[in-house]
Amino acid sequence: MTATRYLVTSALPYANGPLHLGHAAGAYLPGDIFCRFQRLRGNEVLYICGSDEHGAAILMRARQEGVTPKDVVDRYHERIARAFERFGMSFDWYGRTSSATHHETSAAFFEKLAGEGRFVLRSEEQLFDPEAKLFLADRFVVGTCPKCGNANAYGDQCEACGSSLSAKDLIDPRSTLTSATPVLRETTHWFLPLGDHQEVLAKWIASRVDWKPNVLGQIKSWMEGGLEDRAMTRDLPWGVAVPKAVADAAGVDASGKVLYVWFDAPIGYISATREWSQAHGDPDGWRRWWQNDETQLVHFIGKDNIVFHCLVFPLMLHLHGDYVLPRDVPANEFLNLEGQKFSTSRNWAVWLDDALDEFPADYLRYALCSILPESKDADFSWRDFGARINNELADTLGNLVHRCVTFCVRSFEGRVPPLEGPSDVDREALDQLARTTRAVADSIEHYRFREALAELMNLARHGNKYLSDGEPWKTKKSDPRACANTIHVALQIVASLSILSDPFLPDIAQRLRGRLGLGATRREPQDAGLSWDAAAQPLLEVGATVHDGEALVPKIEDSAIEAQLAKLEAASRAATGTATEAADASSSAAAYAPLLPTIAFEDFAKIDLRIGRVLSAEKMKKSKKLLRCEVDLGFEVRQILAGVAEHLTPEDLIGKQVVVVANLAARPMLGTESQGMLLMAEGRDGKLSPATAAQEAGATVR
Ligand code: 2FM
Ligand code: ZN
Repeated sequence: MTATRYLVTSALPYANGPLHLGHAAGAYLPGDIFCRFQRLRGNEVLYICGSDEHGAAILMRARQEGVTPKDVVDRYHERIARAFERFGMSFDWYGRTSSATHHETSAAFFEKLAGEGRFVLRSEEQLFDPEAKLFLADRFVVGTCPKCGNANAYGDQCEACGSSLSAKDLIDPRSTLTSATPVLRETTHWFLPLGDHQEVLAKWIASRVDWKPNVLGQIKSWMEGGLEDRAMTRDLPWGVAVPKAVADAAGVDASGKVLYVWFDAPIGYISATREWSQAHGDPDGWRRWWQNDETQLVHFIGKDNIVFHCLVFPLMLHLHGDYVLPRDVPANEFLNLEGQKFSTSRNWAVWLDDALDEFPADYLRYALCSILPESKDADFSWRDFGARINNELADTLGNLVHRCVTFCVRSFEGRVPPLEGPSDVDREALDQLARTTRAVADSIEHYRFREALAELMNLARHGNKYLSDGEPWKTKKSDPRACANTIHVALQIVASLSILSDPFLPDIAQRLRGRLGLGATRREPQDAGLSWDAAAQPLLEVGATVHDGEALVPKIEDSAIEAQLAKLEAASRAATGTATEAADASSSAAAYAPLLPTIAFEDFAKIDLRIGRVLSAEKMKKSKKLLRCEVDLGFEVRQILAGVAEHLTPEDLIGKQVVVVANLAARPMLGTESQGMLLMAEGRDGKLSPATAAQEAGATVR
């Protein structure tokens, strides 16, 4: 079999803040598992990442902190790179877009497209902040979304309804830098006419039949809306300068103009590859990866990056003409934290490096891999994390290793006993090795990492059952040959697991191989001559020595989990308590609903609020807004029509407890009757959710 050549990238994180667990679960852990696996399979892999150091987000952070953009990126680049290293990310190169190579590579790319007439030059009026003396695009301006009325939509996107916007569309815009009302001023930019290439893109996308449905779904909705021209330059004092030759040829004054961050950032993958090849003394080596049809280019990203990686960057590559296009873009959905969105401004986050101070990287990798948001958003909770490590990783994998290795040490002087006259059960257990090796590989190839991890944990679970059923502690006396066979087979299962678990849990897997004498000092199994396929067969020689040692997976104390929860709450309280200082533009600009006039206690006492449980919920045929719910109040079941269908699915409510206004007069609606009201909390983003304790402070209950 000839080796496949995989060029794998994970989204370049913005160097404007630390990484949190949501980032890790989005574009990074899956990419790393994929690369480690492909290397073990014997494929050629180059894994590229780096810091995204341009764009409005960096400038904004610099302004908030009163430092230069360079200070910001230098600080966060170091912090992010270090966190990745501790998390076990096996990048071949981690670059940064402020590097000279990147500036040169992206400017040359732009120059080639401009020289070949690929851009449309257009002058138009744009929002300008007269106080900051800056044009306002993207995150520098907020205002009311013309599509959904959200009062805090950004200049490039409304986070409430997901619409992509242009700053000038905003109603009542204001500068996030100075709060000034912007004025209109003319400026000239280079636009990529995506609409002109819609057909080519549609054809290309149509050939990507095996892409994840969530990715294809998003692309389809972008395409259906009709692709619009997008400006590929900005008026900003930070970024890759528009090449002078291009500006001169167009007769435009290029001072203060830079490439749009989404033009230069993906080219960062190419520049980082160039730096990697320079560092390896082969300055042209990058071409073998990027300028070669054999290359399988795979981009790991989060769902907010889909349009850029599936439409804009592929079009740039296509128009340039020298580059390979992505083979796949297995984007993940989002991870939430304890039921709420990660939020830097509210400090509702678990920073990756903080978590690594408390727990081994493999614990985080295990728990995150078990809940990766592969096809829909997922939730990380500290208690679930503790339970997964203690009840699964420790009790299943750790325990299996402990049981058979200590038995072998005590009863067979630590030497792998022979397998003689194996029973059907022994044989079946060994057959399982090949099946699991195939199944895990198949799941990883299809970017189903949760399933892959579950498969390998199943092998450990079967190993435990096999060991318990074999009762070697009894057969040791009654049937020594059966006892030896059981320990032989159980050790072979553990040996296979020391390879299969490597992409997921590189440190635990390496320590495990150490106990089994399988090239312990080598960081990756292939360095010790082991391959993925080796896991399909018994790996250990009869007579080889095994060692026991400290628990491979020490359990986590409940108090450690509670401490993390307390820390999260405290950090979030501190952040929201000093909202004006700590908040970023998004939350400082977000308004709380005004308080209604004060009411007398007697008025309040008239309202009978009860806890109900939603027994069933369904969409109503003639209404976009209403869900028909059956709600158990204990003493009776009510039909309540709740106006939440645009925010919640029936599944979000079924089985949940809700607060019910139980003495509201029944109201006729859509030919039936609503017998009460469900109380919902409305966040500042306009989203409704059942009113329970875990809401953002200040949410309106209605
Ligand atoms: O969303 C982000 O964090 C971007 N910095 C990702 C960039 S990916 C690539 F294009 F560089
Ligand atoms: Zn909107």
